[in-house]
Amino acid sequence: MHRLPISKRFVRRKLRSIQRNAIEKGLKPCVLKQFYISTFYEFINIIIKRSILVGLLPLCVFGVLCNSWVHFSEAGRCLLPSNYLVWEATRPLADCAYCVNVTKPIVLWNVTRHSFARYAYSSKPIIVKKSISHWKASKEFSYDLFKRLYQQTEGSYESLEDGCQFLNFKSDLFTLKEVFEMPTARARNEPGQEPWYVGWGNCHPDILAKVRQYYDVPEFLPETAEFPATENIFFGYEIGAVMHLDYIPRLMWQGQVKGSKLWTIAPVPECDHVCNKINFYVEEGDVVLLDTRIWYHATRIPKKQFSLTVQSEYG
Ligand SMILES: [Fe+2]
Repeated sequence: MHRLPISKRFVRRKLRSIQRNAIEKGLKPCVLKQFYISTFYEFINIIIKRSILVGLLPLCVFGVLCNSWVHFSEAGRCLLPSNYLVWEATRPLADCAYCVNVTKPIVLWNVTRHSFARYAYSSKPIIVKKSISHWKASKEFSYDLFKRLYQQTEGSYESLEDGCQFLNFKSDLFTLKEVFEMPTARARNEPGQEPWYVGWGNCHPDILAKVRQYYDVPEFLPETAEFPATENIFFGYEIGAVMHLDYIPRLMWQGQVKGSKLWTIAPVPECDHVCNKINFYVEEGDVVLLDTRIWYHATRIPKKQFSLTVQSEYG
């Protein structure tokens, strides 16, 4: 097993302790992140100047690219990043205790708020089995239901331009409007049709009020937890998400309303030498909980299956 030299481990421990102290004394993680971004920005500027001096054009091009990534990230102000490289380069180092000896998710049955409390903020991967099978959403959520909602609500598509993100993953559908206007054969993933998979946040107040009649935030989550103003929907076939970290302020929960999903999760690079990559399935009716800020994660949907999930955060 590879271990870092003592000097590097000492510097890493020191840095982690400074970060922890600053956050305990009231420094917001967002501000800390902005500090890292500015430092990174200055570093890139130095690289550019030196590149010009020594005439290293490729290095200069690299610097310019990084510069624009930083600007993108700054514009995001602690929302999901436009570029994961910037997030990876600027995030605080993780304490590997969160992933040491984790070889599979913690699987819980018949969980209550009380029994869940000891796992709630552990940052370990957790599956709470069959905890949302009673949701009205599990019977009634479908592509057609969301299509009707968005097509019949005035200003529905515009609401996505005001802060709710649309993610097309590797699909060739670039707006929610395109998703709901695709041919029926493709929407149903009939033989020979290109698979698709997308996700978005329900920002429109009328749509949000309607969809919330079909599900609840899982009742086993801590009573004192904070939740975001809306939830995200992810649905589609086969594609899933490529390996990435999330740039979010809280832990993630995701309810598997329809179908199942294969998750692959991996520790952050600084914990590679003590932690492992893991694969697991989340089945219909389950809730998966994961600290997606420090667990790299990718998802894949089994062929021919339609997957629909409701996702949000708690913290
Ligand atoms: Fe994610």
